[in-house]
Amino acid sequence: MTKHKPGQGLVIAIDGPAGVGKSTVGGLVAKSLGYKFINTGEMYRALTWKGLERGLDLNDHAAVLALAKSLSWEFKPVEDGGTTLKTFIDGSGVTMQIREERVSVNSSLVAGNPGVRRFLSKLQRELGVNKAREAGGIVMEGRDITTNVFPDADVKIYLDASPEERADRRYRQLKAADQEADRDKILAAILKRDLNDLKREINPLKQAPDALLIDSTSLTLRQVADKILRRIRRDARRGGDVQ
Ligand code: DC
Repeated sequence: MTKHKPGQGLVIAIDGPAGVGKSTVGGLVAKSLGYKFINTGEMYRALTWKGLERGLDLNDHAAVLALAKSLSWEFKPVEDGGTTLKTFIDGSGVTMQIREERVSVNSSLVAGNPGVRRFLSKLQRELGVNKAREAGGIVMEGRDITTNVFPDADVKIYLDASPEERADRRYRQLKAADQEADRDKILAAILKRDLNDLKREINPLKQAPDALLIDSTSLTLRQVADKILRRIRRDARRGGDVQ
């Protein structure tokens, strides 16, 4: 599975549906290898949030693309010892804002905008290549990283879990944080997001033919990360150069 060229830094691409644990797994894998971790959904969310703040019609593709191009995009390490690179737009972090319900509901409009996808894919590719060179490697997750952003990634993972299991995990997370939670509503939202991701005309979510499929329905996210790390190390012994 590894096609790594010496000196270039390894690219590990992870795709999968909403709520499957890609960020947790990606962060764990990156931390173990001393790589950087990038969650590309943050970029679509950041643009959605800024568009809503500006009162834009998010169906107006040209206006949203113009907004994307007018912003200054930066990716900086925060918290977790510098593993995760967070999205900053026009100098500000947007971690809290991009988790607002209105952003979750509207982000599929922005993600379905072909110009925006081309713009953000290019940004993701440049960021990934630069950081991979600096850090020795990156882990990048999203919906189209294995198929569109890095079709030549050294390692490709498609992480899946049943919608019911993803809804249950989210329900338990909210309950543990003493927040209100309705399991049926969570499941309905997950099914709707799956539909948006799968039937998008441009760069829909799909499993790349050469991606390793991991069904995490009955695994913990630590077990999933360990499975990926074992695979990377096994491939490295067979000819790559991962430590
Ligand atoms: O993973 P997430 O829910 O934070 O993603 C936010 C939105 O961006 C969601 O509508 C899916 C979309 N997305 C995408 O289309 N392509 C990516 N590479 C990452 C996210």
